[in-house]
Amino acid sequence: MKPPVLLITAGPSREPIDDVRYLSNGASGRMGLAVAQVAAEKGWQVHLALGPVDAQIPAGVIHHPFETARDLDALTAQLWPQVDAFVATAAVCDYRPQERIPGKKKKAPGDWNLQLVRNPDILENRSKDKEDENGPRILVGFALESQAGEEEARRKAVKKNLDLVLCNSPGNLGVATGDYIWIEPGQPSIDLPAISKDLLAVKLMEFIGTQVTLRRGHRASMGNDESVSQQAQS
Ligand code: CTP
Repeated sequence: MKPPVLLITAGPSREPIDDVRYLSNGASGRMGLAVAQVAAEKGWQVHLALGPVDAQIPAGVIHHPFETARDLDALTAQLWPQVDAFVATAAVCDYRPQERIPGKKKKAPGDWNLQLVRNPDILENRSKDKEDENGPRILVGFALESQAGEEEARRKAVKKNLDLVLCNSPGNLGVATGDYIWIEPGQPSIDLPAISKDLLAVKLMEFIGTQVTLRRGHRASMGNDESVSQQAQS
C-alpha cells in the first residue's frame, strides 16, 4: 500500500552575511510541525523541510534540515516528483546578502550599506509545476500580512496557484495560538479566531485528505492504485 506524500516547509530561512552573522526572522516552525504530526499519525509519508530551530521531530516524519532559501528551493525541487500535497509554512527571507563575506567582517569608520538581492519564492516556483500524471497537486500557503490582509492573501493564492491560503499576522510567529482567515479561492472566507496551531493542523489535514482523495481517486478510476485513496481519506 503506497501512502500519499506530503511535503511541508517550516521555520525561518537563514541568510549568511559573513561567517558569524545572518539575516533571519522569528518563525518557530510550530505550524509545520503540527501539520507533520497529524499527517504522520494518519499514515502519510511526510517530508518536513525545517529551518534552523530547536524542535522535536514527530515520529515517522522524514526530516530535511535547511538553512537558506536557495537550499530549500533545491530540496523541494528534488522531492517534487513524488509529492501529492505541499504545505508551505516556512517564513522564507525574500532577500539575501548579495555575497557572503568570508570570516568575520571588521568594523570600519562610517556606515555599512548591505546590498540585498532577491531570493527564490519556493512556493511560487513549485506551483509552476503543479500537475503530474495524477492531476494537480494540492497546494496550501500561509499569507503573513500586517495590513489589507485578506485581499492580499487572495492575490497570493491566485499568483501561487493555491487551493487554500491561511491569512495570518506577524503576531502569530512563534506562538501556539493565533487568529487566521481560511480562504479557498472562489469561496467566502472563514474567520478562525484564537485557534491553536494543533487544531488548525487537524482541519488542514481534513481538507488536504479530501482533496488528495479526489486527485488519487481519479487515478484509481483510471485503473491504478485504489488503496492510496482509501489511506488519504482515513
Ligand atoms: N513563500 C515561499 N518562498 C518565499 C516566500 C514565501 O515559499 N521566498 C511561501 C510562504 O511559505 C507562504 C507563502 O509563500 O506559504 C506566502 O508568504 P508571505 O511571506 O506571506 O508572502 P510573500 O509571497 O513573500 O509576499 P510579501 O513578502 O510581499 O508579503
